Amino acid sequence: AVMVGRRVKSRRRWWRVVRAVDEFEEAAATPVGRLRQVVDAMAVEMHAGLASEGGSKLKMLLTYVDNLPDGSENGIYYALHVGGTNFRILRIQLGGQRSIIEHDVERKPIPQLLMTSTSEEFFDFIASSLKEFVETKGNGLQLAEVRRKDLGFTFSFPVKQTSVSSGTLIKWTKGFAIEDMVEKDVVECLEKALSRRGLDMNVAALVNDSVGTLAVGHFIDNDTVAAVVIGTGTNACYLERADAVIKCQGLLTTSGGVVINMEWGNFWSSHLPRTSYDIELDSESQNPNDQGFEKMISGLYLGDIVRRVICRLCIESDIFGSLSSKLSTRFVLRRAARLAAAGIVGILKKIGRDGTGGIAGGRIKGYKSGKMRRSVVAVEGGLYTSYTIFREYLNNAVAEILGEEIAPYVILKMMEDGSGIGTAMLAASNSARSVDTVQ
Ligand code: GLC
Repeated sequence: AVMVGRRVKSRRRWWRVVRAVDEFEEAAATPVGRLRQVVDAMAVEMHAGLASEGGSKLKMLLTYVDNLPDGSENGIYYALHVGGTNFRILRIQLGGQRSIIEHDVERKPIPQLLMTSTSEEFFDFIASSLKEFVETKGNGLQLAEVRRKDLGFTFSFPVKQTSVSSGTLIKWTKGFAIEDMVEKDVVECLEKALSRRGLDMNVAALVNDSVGTLAVGHFIDNDTVAAVVIGTGTNACYLERADAVIKCQGLLTTSGGVVINMEWGNFWSSHLPRTSYDIELDSESQNPNDQGFEKMISGLYLGDIVRRVICRLCIESDIFGSLSSKLSTRFVLRRAARLAAAGIVGILKKIGRDGTGGIAGGRIKGYKSGKMRRSVVAVEGGLYTSYTIFREYLNNAVAEILGEEIAPYVILKMMEDGSGIGTAMLAASNSARSVDTVQ
């Protein structure tokens, strides 16, 4: 009787576990029909975010970047990249004709303590690291001789730009919480720290990492229309018509276009496959009800979703060991890659590059007459660049959503270290000084 009792108990536990896994699988499922609803919701929210300030959870921030690098840039430029797990400093030498003559990068982990310290401590750390870098990589020149270098600053957080080289922090994301920084001018904070360290550098461009990625993508291939970052956090930006930015009435740009930083990490739609684990993760996070899309996709959160699933299974059962085959299947990783894919197609839909003629519907004329345009999307971030399966899931999902007629016209290009290089390029195109004085 004891043996039978044990067997019944263990069978019950097993069923509880199987049920938990099945429930999760169903709630997290991303069939193509659901993804298409996410595509539509993304395009609709993009419109709403462009129509009025606060019109959508998508901030659709104006970047003031209206000309993307075209390959003719020339000279030596520096870039600072702040926003993920690592802090990066770059020095690149551009030689015109789409050539990068030299490219030096230094990566440093950001000490955890600094992520929640004061703005002064944070920027002093960055400025000291930059000074060291400039001194060692400055072609053997003394500090005095490398004065007034142009610097591109990639700051991968939501910023309300006031020009291409200034802007205030709207809020922190990705676990950063330096409270006195919020609403402060980011460039002013950096420049003060640089002068405290005796470095006379000119911040020529303040850029979100997605915008840096778009810039390098465009430098390499003029058909690049959008860029996506999928790393610690996730975000996207794209080239919009200036007159479509209704909330900035009368916006005039030399090219007629302008880059919009979507801050898509904060996108939300009832069509997203939200599970009880996502709800728990959100309510226990530093920023509940914020960055909902990011919490389903990016590297900072994926591991935690898996941890929560495993915890639940451990509670339900002590036969966890025999579940390894269930756990090794797709779930979280698939879902994340497929949602990002839906987001990308949403952008293409908004700008009429998905073969359906935008949300108004109907095929675009150009496509009918066989003139569908090639669209390149630059993608960077560790999840995409270093995780082959994630990349495959994402690429396949984009093709699945678009269908086989349109998919060949959409090319996803991987950009390693792209945002830093792109930011240095934007510093080059926005530099007020001539090439001679830069070198
Ligand atoms: C977060 C930030 C965003 C950044 C993204 C990727 O979503 O808010 O600005 O681009 O992470 O680093």
